[in-house]
Amino acid sequence: MAKDPVRVLVTGAAGQIGYALVPMIARGVMLGSDQPVILHMLDIPPAAEALNGVKMELVDAAFPLLKGVVATTDVTEACAGVNIAIMVGGFPRKEGMERKDVMSKNVSIYKSQASALEKHAAANCKVLVVANPANTNALILKEFAPSIPEKNISCLTRLDHNRALGQVSEKLNVQVCDVKNVIIWGNHSSTQYPDVNHATVKTPAGEKPVRELVADDEWLKGEFIATVQQRGAAIIKARKFSSALSAASSACDHIRDWVLGTPEGTWVSMGVYSDGSYNVPTGLIYSFPVTCRNGEWSIVQGLGIDEYSRKKLDLTAEELSEEKALAYSCLS
Ligand code: NAD
Ligand code: LMR
Repeated sequence: MAKDPVRVLVTGAAGQIGYALVPMIARGVMLGSDQPVILHMLDIPPAAEALNGVKMELVDAAFPLLKGVVATTDVTEACAGVNIAIMVGGFPRKEGMERKDVMSKNVSIYKSQASALEKHAAANCKVLVVANPANTNALILKEFAPSIPEKNISCLTRLDHNRALGQVSEKLNVQVCDVKNVIIWGNHSSTQYPDVNHATVKTPAGEKPVRELVADDEWLKGEFIATVQQRGAAIIKARKFSSALSAASSACDHIRDWVLGTPEGTWVSMGVYSDGSYNVPTGLIYSFPVTCRNGEWSIVQGLGIDEYSRKKLDLTAEELSEEKALAYSCLS
């Protein structure tokens, strides 16, 4: 029997991530090739005509799984009955801007959209915040939508996770699908800690630790970490726009694994509300290694954290605490 359609909201849908993301959702990349969807697309009035153009293209692409499109500048209409909300809308970082510069523009958007989601989305709606500062926007959304369970609010660090997989695969000249269990700890910013201490590679002789295969501590602690931390800025420098196709693809990965589950023996990175695991302060949305089952994520427990890693985990937590204070000062 055909499944009922799932309603997926994409805010900022006329923007560049939105333009890459909506066809992926309509094609089944996010929720599976047997899952019909109804797309809700929100943007602001100056982008209304462009948004309508995206709607026209979705109709023209004749996606078999796409059962309806709502394209609107009205946040209430956009949020009505949505099961999944991908929050991309906001002001993007331009070349030369620090992420903190975009804070004041974006946290007030997330405060007001929190209320709209709380009032109008379906019960148990899952929320993924992509717009920067992603962790802090997600935290503001959580704080101003107290009736949405905190386990339902997340932010995107899967792009950083995928970037780390990509860097290891290039270094070792192995397929990216054979690399797994890297971790992104902390903030989606240049203080994030890409950690390969528990990562492995599938080889003809079985699974091997990345640390054993790379055996170049200088690269792992230097170029590897810096490349992943700075990749967003490198793409802005090269394209003059922030990453879009990789961000859209990673957003699909994030929701797919959350809803359909992570493969056995594999974890992924998600920005989620800290419960104090690994001595990360509560009250922050922080990226952890997680596994997902039955539509729920759980933080992977018991991983060894050496002294070097501990400092990195704490540093990015400190930045998130500062961002939180700054966000509240922008709202007051
Ligand atoms: P963009 O400027 O192309 O698109 C943003 C869209 O949001 C625009 O169409 C704009 O009109 C719309 N918008 C602005 N205010 C809005 C509001 N109040 N409600 C609804 N829509 C609104 O930007 P983009 O390149 O698509 O990037 C979107 C965001 O994603 C940026 O904040 C960017 O920094 C962030 N980003 C995050 C990651 C990540 O991994 N977390 C990766 C890449 C980009
Ligand atoms: C990215 O990681 O590509 C983006 O978050 C960069 C940015 O600041 O928009």
